[in-house]
Amino acid sequence: MPERDVYNPLLFEIAWEVANKVGGIYTVIKTKVPVTVHEFGDRYCLIGPLSYKTAPMEVEALEPPNGKIRETLEAMAAHNVKYLFGRWLVEGSPYVLLFDTGSVQHKMDEWKGDLWRSAGIPSPPNDTETNEAILFGYLVTWFLGELAAKYNQPSDPAIIAHFHEWLAGVSIPLLKKRRVDVTTIFTTHATLLGRYLCAGSVDFYNNLRGFDVDQEAGKRGIYHRYCIERAAAHCSDVFTTVSHITAYESEHLLKRKPDGVLPNGLNVVKFQAVHEFQNKHALNKEKINDFVRGHFYGHYDFDLENTVYFFTAGRYEYRNKGVDMFAESLGRLNDRLKAAKSNTTVVAFMVMPAETHSFNVEALKGQAVTKQLRETVNEIQGRIGRRIFEKALRGEELSAEDYLSEEDRVLLKRRVFALKRTSLPPIVSHNIVDDGNDPVINQLRRLQLYNKPEDRVKIIFHPEFLNANNPLLGLDYEDFVRGCHLGVFPSYYEPWGYTPAECTVMGVPSITTNLSGFGCFMDENIENCEDYGIYIVDRRMKSVEESIQQLCEQMFRFCQKTRRQRINQRNRTERLSDLLDWKRMGLEYIKARQLALRRAYPDSFVDEEEDEEVFRKIPKPLSAPASPRVRNLDSFNVDEDAEEDIPSYQLRSKKEYPAMSHQNDKTREDELLREGD
Ligand code: UDP
Ligand code: G6P
Ligand code: GLC
Repeated sequence: MPERDVYNPLLFEIAWEVANKVGGIYTVIKTKVPVTVHEFGDRYCLIGPLSYKTAPMEVEALEPPNGKIRETLEAMAAHNVKYLFGRWLVEGSPYVLLFDTGSVQHKMDEWKGDLWRSAGIPSPPNDTETNEAILFGYLVTWFLGELAAKYNQPSDPAIIAHFHEWLAGVSIPLLKKRRVDVTTIFTTHATLLGRYLCAGSVDFYNNLRGFDVDQEAGKRGIYHRYCIERAAAHCSDVFTTVSHITAYESEHLLKRKPDGVLPNGLNVVKFQAVHEFQNKHALNKEKINDFVRGHFYGHYDFDLENTVYFFTAGRYEYRNKGVDMFAESLGRLNDRLKAAKSNTTVVAFMVMPAETHSFNVEALKGQAVTKQLRETVNEIQGRIGRRIFEKALRGEELSAEDYLSEEDRVLLKRRVFALKRTSLPPIVSHNIVDDGNDPVINQLRRLQLYNKPEDRVKIIFHPEFLNANNPLLGLDYEDFVRGCHLGVFPSYYEPWGYTPAECTVMGVPSITTNLSGFGCFMDENIENCEDYGIYIVDRRMKSVEESIQQLCEQMFRFCQKTRRQRINQRNRTERLSDLLDWKRMGLEYIKARQLALRRAYPDSFVDEEEDEEVFRKIPKPLSAPASPRVRNLDSFNVDEDAEEDIPSYQLRSKKEYPAMSHQNDKTREDELLREGD
């Protein structure tokens, strides 16, 4: 074993989603930067793929200040490798190195052959994603191999290479095979097989121990990808996942029990004024109100004061993200609210990108006619004001004509006439390419959720991620979440699930499940989650029908809350945010790195007695508490001014999860997708 300086190591963190937004892994990497930079400073560098389209917005290019990194990259450039080195333009501004896989396209066959010979990993010709993963993996291995060779003295820093997800995993078996002097960590954020199996109608959790993994991967045409993932898990010095549920899954599907769990955190931003987040809710809700007024023009017969906004969002994984269960429960909620003659209206948004042609003309028209009406009213208001002012100044009597002139009355009538429509407000904001086969639309049709006037649940499926420049719903995702009342994420397969976690730190209550890493984490750590706005649907021990009923019941109860109760609940939800802060969660990453260093360089550590000293020297993240488990209840006390008498929340000591059972998922699909007669 070589000796290295294990007290000041270099850290490379490698992921396909570095400076490249796809889903939750981007959120992990980006939000964790501040605590990692705090610990490693300029000894930290992220590595990702180079996309010429997005890189200029994400990265400020510069020369690598570290001479050895510069020399390594120059040597690679001599072989026509293209890359971008610079600072990632996110909070913490870490160094980032992006490799252009296109520049080594000509190496594809050679590297694929080598991957087969050296690691026994096959690769078919037409899987673009795998091809990219291979090129990226070989580039990273090339870079780390050349760099590590330059750090070969006992006083040189150890190098930690932390890889995320199979797409970045090709490098791990290669580094091992080539005996490159780095220590590796592999964090998987899901398993490929788990995601595929769950998306079908397999009874996943009950059969987890017994799947013939090679055969299942082969049947789904992902055997080669599975090989990469499994090789990465087995060849890494330290193997981790993001939750216990995914650890259990990895043990059985990847056949290696993870060394630890690294739960995902967020970079929690606290406002100066405690109630600032409540103000933000009101402000953003008003923007959503504006959109809703436009969308429902001609059918705007409900009261926005008695309207609550529910939403679900994420990559379009119909079953895994539980959109099937959400839609079904909304159908039932609609019936229930109608039967109860409730005057509450629910507008349920589904934000999930699908392939579309463009915006729905009706949806655009709604915003246009409402805007025209608003402008006309503003003009008329101005004219009335000027007339009244003039007359009042002269001391003249005001006539009815001074308030609303005949001309303005006609103008207003014309605008009101434009608000008439023969069709119902659309349930989809865009034209979906495969409208006939879209699972969400088909389910909404079957449930007859058509935004009819009598419906108490209205639907808006927005098949595109949100951004402020959108002509329909012009809000960034964060502002949209803040403006909503409840996030609903009844996932069936969710290793972590950032969406409800993000709701929590913004003080927005949410519904999650005990099959999501986040849901289990909260359930494990907090007594009476529901009082704090974290509703957990039981999808482990209940049948699909029972879970749907539970979800419907949770939403129904939420609809019955008064404004005061909603405000109180938001305050409590927001108070949970410290629990999710990277300052706390990041400690698990520190442990993983320690373990990796100790496994690779055991002789470089001072002896046992001085272990404490070792840990002391490792800088802790900003104001990090001693333990990631919250034990200090004081800082989490519930608002004493709260209207309801809710006790301080208790942190669970240790929750044992019952074995997964009782869920006969064979019937799941049938139950959820009962074909209408
Ligand atoms: N998200 C977004 N815009 C949207 C909807 C979602 O940026 O309109 C982000 C969301 O903030 C979250 C990520 O997408 O960070 C989804 O992560 P999650 O862990 O929930 O699921 P994944 O896609 O990784 O399975
Ligand atoms: C925030 C604001 C209040 C507003 C409330 C609306 O708490 O500070 O001024 O009344 O939001 O809450 P609601 O749940 O009805 O959207
Ligand atoms: C994966 C999972 C998601 C998790 C994210 C970040 O994409 O699907 O549940 O939150 O990674 O770990």
